[in-house]
Amino acid sequence: MCGIIGCVNRGERTLETLVDGLERLEYRGYDSSGVSLLGEELSVTKTAGKIADLRAALEERPLDGRLGVGHTRWSTHGPPTDENAHPHLDCSGEVAVVHNGIIENYQGLRDELAGDGHTFTSDTDTEVVPHLIERALGRGASPEAAFRDAIAQLEGSYAIAAVVGDEEAIFAARSDSPLVIGVGKECAEGDREYFLASDVPAFREYTGKVIYLDDGEFARLESELAVTDSDGQPVEKTVNTVEWDAEETGKSGYDHFMLKEIHEQPRALRQCLSGRADELAGTVELEEVDDVSPSSVHFVAMGTSYHAALYGVHLFQQAGVPAQAFHASEYATVTPPIGDALVIGITQSGETADTVSALREARSRGARTLAVTNTVGSTADRECDETLLIQSGPEIGVAASKTFTGQLAALNLLTLATVESGRTRRDVVPELRELPGRVQSILDDSNAEEIADVYHDSRSFFFIGRSYQYPVALEGALKLKEISYEHAEGFSAGDLKHGPLALVDDDTPVFAMVTGDDEIARKTVGNIKEVEARDAPVVAVTDGQSNAELYADHVLRIPEAIPRAAAVLTNVQLQLVAYHVADNLGRSIDKPRNLAKSVTVE
Ligand code: G6P
Repeated sequence: MCGIIGCVNRGERTLETLVDGLERLEYRGYDSSGVSLLGEELSVTKTAGKIADLRAALEERPLDGRLGVGHTRWSTHGPPTDENAHPHLDCSGEVAVVHNGIIENYQGLRDELAGDGHTFTSDTDTEVVPHLIERALGRGASPEAAFRDAIAQLEGSYAIAAVVGDEEAIFAARSDSPLVIGVGKECAEGDREYFLASDVPAFREYTGKVIYLDDGEFARLESELAVTDSDGQPVEKTVNTVEWDAEETGKSGYDHFMLKEIHEQPRALRQCLSGRADELAGTVELEEVDDVSPSSVHFVAMGTSYHAALYGVHLFQQAGVPAQAFHASEYATVTPPIGDALVIGITQSGETADTVSALREARSRGARTLAVTNTVGSTADRECDETLLIQSGPEIGVAASKTFTGQLAALNLLTLATVESGRTRRDVVPELRELPGRVQSILDDSNAEEIADVYHDSRSFFFIGRSYQYPVALEGALKLKEISYEHAEGFSAGDLKHGPLALVDDDTPVFAMVTGDDEIARKTVGNIKEVEARDAPVVAVTDGQSNAELYADHVLRIPEAIPRAAAVLTNVQLQLVAYHVADNLGRSIDKPRNLAKSVTVE
C-alpha cells in the first residue's frame, strides 16, 4: 500500500533521506514513486516502476532542496503511470501533495475545480488536493489556511503531506490512515530535524523518537513542530520511543526479508512469551487484559490474521467459550448479534482498513474491543479498549511469517490468562516455553528445500488438516500462492472428498498435517489414503506418532508437541516450502506482485 516520507532541516541530505526512506517503505507494496523538494523553487521527479527507476531519473536530473516529500504509490484510481505517480501538483506547479488512502468525494470536487478552470493531468483522486489548495491561495488564504481549507472539503480516508508555495514547511493531516512524525536531532542553526512517514522504518535510522498523529490533527514541520486540532488549537503530543533499531529492518545476510523473518521466529516467540508466561508457577500474566473474561468472542481479521482468528476460535471453544471468526470485510454486512461478545481484531499492522472498520462497527454497537497487533501506536491499538501486543519485532516481507506465529502464541496467552483453567495453564505453559527451541530445530533440519525442488512446477498444491491444523492448511496455501503465484488451496481434510478431490491428480501434491496419534490423526490418515489412491503425491507434515508416513511420498518432520503447539510447528515447515518454491521460480518474494503489506483501503 502507498507510503509517505517527508523531512525538514536535513540540508544536503534531503534528497537522499527521501529516496532511502522510500526504499525502506518498499515492503508495503507499490508500483510507482516520486519526490518533490523545495529549493529555489519546487521541483518534482516521479516515475512508474521501482525505486531504482526513480533513482535513474534523479541521476539524469538531480533535485536539491531544504525540505521535501516522497511517495510510493499502490494504484487505486488509474494505472501505474508517470502521470499518476505522486507528488501531484496544482496548475502553477507551486503546491505538491502526496496522499495515502481514498478521497471518496473526489469526482464532485474535480468537476467543480475543472469548471473553475483547473487543469488535471492524472486519473487520481489525489490531484484534487493541490488544486483545492491553489484555489484557496488564490482567494488570499495563507499556505496553512489553504491547506486546512482543502482538507476540510475531503471525505474518505487520507494521510496527506504537502509543500505549499515557498513556505519552508511541510503540512500534514490524517484521517483513517497512519502518519507518524520522527523527532530528529538539533542541527547547527538550532533548528531540529523532523521526519514524517506512514511507517517508522522509513526514518528509523535517524531517530527512534516518534509522535503518532491522530485523526483530525494537523502538523506543521519546520524549524519547530506544531500539532493542532481541526480548530487550530495546539495539541500536546507524547513523544514515544521505538524499541527496535534500524538493524532489525535490514536483511542481516539473508537473501530475503521473509527468510530472515522465518528464522527470527524463535526470538519472536521468546519476546512474545517473555514476562508473561511463567513456567515454574504455571501462570500467565497479561496486564493488558487483566479484567477481560469474555462470555463469547467475535474475531475480525483479514488474510493471514484471519487464519490466526480461526485458530483462536478453537482455543476459546475448547475452553467452553462460544467464538466465531469473521472476515472483517464481511462483519458489517452480516451484522451478527454482538450481545456481550468481546470483539477481537487481529491485525499485525493495526492499520488494515477492513479490520479497523469492523472494530469501529463493533464499538458503535456497544461492544468491548481488543486489538491483537504487532504495531504500537497503530490505529487498532489506539482505538480499541485493550491491546495485546504480539511483540514480534518489525516484519518487512509482505507475506506475514513471524507475525502469524506471534499471533498464535499471543492467542494462547490470551485464553490461558482469561478463560482456561489452572490445570490447562500448568499443562500448556511449559509447552509454550518449549516452542522457540522446537521451531529452531525445524529451521536447523528442515528438508523443505528438497521437497520444493521436486514439486515447484506442479500444476496445483493442496493443503489439508483438521482441528488446529485446518487454519494451518489455509495459511500454508495462502503463503504459497502469495509469494510463488502458483495455484494453491487449503481445505479441512474432511471436506476434500466433497468436491476438491475431483481436481486431484498426479500433478497435485497434497501436504497433509498429521500430528499426534488420536482420532483426528487417524481420520486425516484416511484422507491421505483417498488422495494417494488418486495418484497424488503426498507430503506428510508429521511428528511421526501416527502411521501417516506409510502413505506419504515425502515427510516434513516436526518435534512432538501438544496439538495447539504442533500447529505452530507444522506451519514453519509450510513457510519454508512456500519460500523455496517461490525462490526456485525466481519470484519477487518480499514484494509479491499486486500485494501490499498494509492494506489501508476497504
Ligand atoms: C494484506 C497482506 C496479508 C495480510 C493482510 C492482513 O493483505 O498482504 O499478508 O495477512 O493484509 O494484514 P494485517 O496487518 O491486518 O494482519
